[in-house]
Amino acid sequence: VTPSAVALIGRKRDGGALSAAEIGWLISAYLRNEVDDAQMAAFLMAGVIRGFNDDEAAALTEVLVETGRSIDLSILKGPTVDKHSTGGVGDVTTLIVAPMLAAAGCQVAKLSGRGLGHTGGTLDKLESIPGMRVDLSPEQVLRQVEQIGLAVAAAGPDLVPGDRRLYALRDVTGTVGDPALIASSVMSKKIAGGAAHILLDVKVGGGALVADLEQARTLAERCVTIGSAHGRRVGALLTQMDEPLAPAVGNALEVGAAVEVLRGDRRGPLHDLSVELAAATLRLIGHKEEEAVSKSAGVLASGEALEKFRELVSAQGGDPSCVDRPWDVLPSADVVVDWTPSPGVVQRIDARAIGELAGSLGAARRRLGEAIDPAVGLELLLRVGERSEDGQPVARIHAASRTDAEEAKDALEQAVTMGDEACEPLPLVLGSVGFDGEDHSARP
Ligand code: URA
Repeated sequence: VTPSAVALIGRKRDGGALSAAEIGWLISAYLRNEVDDAQMAAFLMAGVIRGFNDDEAAALTEVLVETGRSIDLSILKGPTVDKHSTGGVGDVTTLIVAPMLAAAGCQVAKLSGRGLGHTGGTLDKLESIPGMRVDLSPEQVLRQVEQIGLAVAAAGPDLVPGDRRLYALRDVTGTVGDPALIASSVMSKKIAGGAAHILLDVKVGGGALVADLEQARTLAERCVTIGSAHGRRVGALLTQMDEPLAPAVGNALEVGAAVEVLRGDRRGPLHDLSVELAAATLRLIGHKEEEAVSKSAGVLASGEALEKFRELVSAQGGDPSCVDRPWDVLPSADVVVDWTPSPGVVQRIDARAIGELAGSLGAARRRLGEAIDPAVGLELLLRVGERSEDGQPVARIHAASRTDAEEAKDALEQAVTMGDEACEPLPLVLGSVGFDGEDHSARP
């Protein structure tokens, strides 16, 4: 008998659980347009309110993977790794961590996304490098990883198309931030992407999809469980996303900041979290903790990661001199002005508001398929806990026009809180899941 969408929605609304077969039917029927957007939205909202259990999250992942093809990385020699962030502001670690891992001998086939809401996307950032291509076929990804150990590309249209459809619906129905829905969305793409070892950076805080640490832990645990069921070794770091991670938010500005970290010219949280993420990934492939940390810091300090980044840019058609002279090569904005509030200690930088502000300057799309301005955004010259002296700017606005820059100053007044009290810097890593001697053996 064909299940009835209305009956399944009603069961979820009343707090019941669906079987794997029922979830499989519902999602497939939606993708065949036999269940419409209104019904799927009602189902998602019922699930967000009532909660999905582990079996339902696993079943959702399964059906999403089956909506497309998967990449077979088994011909690659060496451990295959992937890294994924649940999305943040100034979150440009992939551009640093992926070359670090390739320099450390991993095979990195990284499928990335575009900006979503107030969060930036790796593909948009990479495309600010003149000439850089990100639309590679699965075959091109595989060939490039064979040659240089690294590719960062878009998940093509045939990879988990079901997630694309469902995600777009979640985006407009207030059903994005649910642990089971996020876990199935992320893990379906990671499983189809083929890597045996998967490191997740689960962002927690006001600038993330999940603001609450316990919810983030549940999300990470779900991802680890789903990955294990597919023979993948998955670990997650839970990391703070209350203030933007990089010292800049905006596509070219973030690429420039990442290149500075790779060149050894910049320390700070972006550097430190990149080392942590790469070390955590090396632990997933079997390195002991101490060895993982020293190898991770080593490939960055030696310049090997920078050279891998150069190879990546060249292989994908980009101008490799962005590695040597980022600020000459990357696009720059017409109007650059400082924002100087009254002196004091930075108490808070609202990551979500900063992400939205960068978007309103033109760094993000407002409609599907719209062009973005790679040059615009904000530099954050101080972090939470740091003091600005009299006349010292706290942020620098990169805008397309004077009017935009003036409006941005008003928005910064709201987004950044200054005060007289001393204030601790925010911690970077809040926890981890999937590392402590648990056995989640992966295929080679
Ligand atoms: N990233 C994804 O790919 N999916 C989600 O649902 C959330 C973050």
